[in-house]
Amino acid sequence: MVTAAKGPPSTGYGATSRTTAGAAQLSASTPAAAPAPLDADAPVPESANHVFTTRFLPRLFKPSLPPPPPPPPPAARPAPAPPAADAPVAEAAHPGFTTRFPPPPFKPAPPPPPGSRLAAVRAARVAKQLEAHPFYAHPGLRGLPMMTTAPTPAVAWLRWAVKVAVIYVRLAGNSVEAAIRARAAVGGGGVAARLRAWTTVIGVAVMAVASGGGPSALRKAIEPVDRAADEAADALAEAGKATAADPYEPYRALFATLPVPPIALAAAIESDEVFARLRVAGPNPMVLTRVRAADDGTVVGWLTDSHLRAVAGCGGDTIAAAVADHRLYVADYRGFAAALHASSEATGVTDDPDMTGGADGRGAEVLLGPVAVFALPPGGGSGGRLLPVAILPDGKLGTPALTPADGTAWTAAKAIVNAADGAHHELDTHLARTHLFVNLAMGCTSRRLSATHHPVWRLLTPHADGTAFINNLTPHTLLAKGGDVHLLLPASRAAQVHYVGGIVTGARFNDRFPRTELAARGLLHEDALSYPYREDALAMYDAIHTFVADVLGEYYKSDADVVGDPELAAWAADISAPAPGGAGVAGFGELRPDGSTEEGTIRTFVYLVKAVTLLIWTASAQHAAANFPQADLMACAAAYPLAVRAGPPSPGTTTSITEWLPPLRVAGRQLFLGNLLGGVVHLPLGTYPLTPLPGGWFRSARGAAAVSNLRRRLGEIDARIGAREAGEKWFKYEYLRADRVPRSINI
Ligand SMILES: [Fe+2]
Repeated sequence: MVTAAKGPPSTGYGATSRTTAGAAQLSASTPAAAPAPLDADAPVPESANHVFTTRFLPRLFKPSLPPPPPPPPPAARPAPAPPAADAPVAEAAHPGFTTRFPPPPFKPAPPPPPGSRLAAVRAARVAKQLEAHPFYAHPGLRGLPMMTTAPTPAVAWLRWAVKVAVIYVRLAGNSVEAAIRARAAVGGGGVAARLRAWTTVIGVAVMAVASGGGPSALRKAIEPVDRAADEAADALAEAGKATAADPYEPYRALFATLPVPPIALAAAIESDEVFARLRVAGPNPMVLTRVRAADDGTVVGWLTDSHLRAVAGCGGDTIAAAVADHRLYVADYRGFAAALHASSEATGVTDDPDMTGGADGRGAEVLLGPVAVFALPPGGGSGGRLLPVAILPDGKLGTPALTPADGTAWTAAKAIVNAADGAHHELDTHLARTHLFVNLAMGCTSRRLSATHHPVWRLLTPHADGTAFINNLTPHTLLAKGGDVHLLLPASRAAQVHYVGGIVTGARFNDRFPRTELAARGLLHEDALSYPYREDALAMYDAIHTFVADVLGEYYKSDADVVGDPELAAWAADISAPAPGGAGVAGFGELRPDGSTEEGTIRTFVYLVKAVTLLIWTASAQHAAANFPQADLMACAAAYPLAVRAGPPSPGTTTSITEWLPPLRVAGRQLFLGNLLGGVVHLPLGTYPLTPLPGGWFRSARGAAAVSNLRRRLGEIDARIGAREAGEKWFKYEYLRADRVPRSINI
């Protein structure tokens, strides 16, 4: 089990018990006298670094770039045997760092009649594709099948790499500025520190450009950024000892040249309104469920009518009435925490340095399974906005429930909920259910459908641009030992990977349609509940569904056309075939009247359109909803920790909230990870490659009209979101606005 042990007694902001070479260097020139209060908002003379990172860099990379040269095609490689569950990740085992351009785009057409010469040509093409795109069992992901390469008709890799490099440099500049300010606050800094800082920035720029060399080069590129962030954290921790007036200020001071996220501002960080809004308009709006019975296992045994009556507007309310009126909601993380604990037990890794605090000098990461209850007051007094009622911090009956009247204990309980939500977001909602989910079916598209000819190949391939690349990179970087996921999230790397693998292989395709998923949580028809994610996600799904039906309707006039397409049948069978020979996706295929699935079959045009829509929606809208809040809502560890460092708070506790928060070094890494992953918007939805061709990418008037209609629908959705969020007080939910949704998972 992950221990609940606390770290050493607080001496300020936590990270001061560690010194690194970099910190020691900076400290060596720092006189110990007269520390001044730390105030990141105080006017600070603009350094050259500040001007460079906030003014010059954003302008430098605006011009359009020449198209990238086609990379050489990779050699076909056989799939290696599945490795042991936690085998070290060998770079040679990852063939996915190259991309290949497909043959010229012929006009799409379904397979010709069997026996024809054209049929033989297409069959030969598919046979070659099958050889060129084997699945392989990924050693960094418990042997999950991964696609090796994917055709990339317009991946624009150079522009992508430049965007990433710019963000790297901006992040390094931010860290350097934070370190300079913090050192200045304690009377240190000076020319030597600035020169070292600039060396770091230049080193990062060089290495970021060189990161095209593969994972080892990329790791080297990350190192100086991490060092700069650590130095800033150490300096802020040292400066922070001088003042404890605002425990969150050192976390905000990490944002030196980057804007402080709105939810981390002083007025928002402990707001109950913000806490409730995060459940319906946050990074992970996939956990909230409606309480459907008063004896529901989520609230029975601990929630009482008196808890509910203490909520504004709920004076005479009862649990029974709130349940009957569909006004009681819950975010329950017990199942997630139990599964991650079980993964720790299954992998036998329960004392990883990150779990014991040995890796960052703070107390152990504590993995709790909280339950948080929310209500809508009777009569619609809150305008559909949820109000927090109570939290059971570790989900255990018999332990104290906390309410908004509990002061610091309530604040700590909210941090515990946000931390569970953040860990669930990264491992489950984001990595498993978008990145790896899309990877599998897109891999089958590369293998089984005739390149550039087949209508489904033509439709899906632009929505897999960069997905193989980014997915193959993850085990080398974020999920690697010592990587940011490992460092920021609870449990060991082995347990994290074990958990993610279980989600990918266990989740059923037919359960992932957004209306099915929302209905399963009892939220599909709750119109009284303000739920921005639901509104936008369904609008995007419907727009994409219409688009897919338009495009595919040109080639499939009836269900008989669908059944008569042998490539489509092979594609569907490959998605369902057991891994690693096939993708091993459960629950993919036509639904029978009794709700069961005809695994691996597509017999109707309706199901074909639904399945393709789900893949495109997941690769675009759903990934955007999960990915881009990382750059603001999840960037400040004080507002949204990814793991807490102390156990359930006691009512009446006077312990500082910093006991529960990650140390500043970890907060610096969270800032880096969130801004990097949430900062690259590449290849927007509604764009397709080679549009100068007559008829556009689909080479037909109908296809071109379908793209135009999709863009128009996206524009309408964009306008609705803009109008809805215009007066939003705390933070806007705009992650599904048209210009913010990439068409593929490429970051
Ligand atoms: Fe992502």
